[in-house]
Amino acid sequence: MEEQDFAAHLTATMTGSALTMLIGVGHRTGLFEAAAQGPATSAGLAERAGLHERYVREWLGAMVTGGIFTHDAGEYTFPPEHAKFLLGETASNLMPSLLTLSAFTGILPDLERAFAEGGGVPRSAYGPYLETLGAKTGDSWKHIYREHLVDGFFGAVPGLNERLTAGARVLDLGCGTGNAIAVAARAFPASRFTGLDINPGVVEQARELTHDLPNAEFAVGDAAELAADPPYDVITAFDAVHDQDRPDVVLRRVREALAGDGLFFMVDTNFSSDVAKNVGNPLAALCYSISLMYCTTTSLAEGGAALGAMWGTEKAREMLANAGFRHVEVLESPRPQNCVYACRP
Ligand SMILES: C[S@@+](CC[C@H](N)C(=O)[O-])C[C@H]1O[C@@H](n2cnc3c(N)ncnc32)[C@H](O)[C@@H]1O
Repeated sequence: MEEQDFAAHLTATMTGSALTMLIGVGHRTGLFEAAAQGPATSAGLAERAGLHERYVREWLGAMVTGGIFTHDAGEYTFPPEHAKFLLGETASNLMPSLLTLSAFTGILPDLERAFAEGGGVPRSAYGPYLETLGAKTGDSWKHIYREHLVDGFFGAVPGLNERLTAGARVLDLGCGTGNAIAVAARAFPASRFTGLDINPGVVEQARELTHDLPNAEFAVGDAAELAADPPYDVITAFDAVHDQDRPDVVLRRVREALAGDGLFFMVDTNFSSDVAKNVGNPLAALCYSISLMYCTTTSLAEGGAALGAMWGTEKAREMLANAGFRHVEVLESPRPQNCVYACRP
């Protein structure tokens, strides 16, 4: 990159960080909701949102010049085609991810200490920052499951939806707040779904979310201690393997807990294990950053393997083979940053 281009690149990077922070401000103050009601002057929008005009005007300046709002004859507009990425109960809404990213700034001093002293930042350290900035665990994936789980993710594996329709025993490993099971258990009433997660707090939320679904149940437990019996027809893991402290053990347990004709359905990140092959991938720097600020350090805090979110398809294939999966297909998912591994013994 030419010197001038690099300077412009860094300035754009800085602008992106600043706008990410102000987008969070807009979320928490209700400015986006208010602006979505229609064009307004800064005074009109401030009144609508019950805020001080001087602050709102400066925020609007950043939104307009940052390409998020438009401005004409003193009125500010939040175009609906932009609003759908920052508001609403859909998978297009990037707000949960933007808020989570901002919250990571809270743990940076601990992370930097770990760079020097080793160890890592424990998962429990993130809670207060996520809460303060309004990021809710599981929100990023909630709408993605609703819109894409059945046709997009499960649909990537020929025959899977038919098997679930007929009735299968399914385990969701690292189920989090139960968003995937909430969708799947409704879509496939003849199948029985068990969610397993090591975090009692998220399991409690999962139980609440699915209280009206008789074919969904949850357990608190360590996937590294998963029992082989009774066997499951399908084991799913959504974004839950690379974070494991002992991923090699977990994958072996998964293999042992599958029926002979069982399927391990793993959704994980879609990158290469080789950094050189990720150069030019527009999502790679973001995912390496998230991996460093969460996945890698939380695993190191537990003395774990610290695979990180960028472990890559080559490493994943190697580990799946070592765990005893002889047939592994890597399939496209509805999201470019994820792929589906269809793994069979
Ligand atoms: C990134 S979250 C994904 C959650 C969920 N699958 C989703 O898509 O929303 C990873 C989950 O794995 C869980 N987890 C991590 N290590 C685990 C272990 N050893 N056994 C069971 N669950 C574990 C975490 O508590 C967390 O809920």
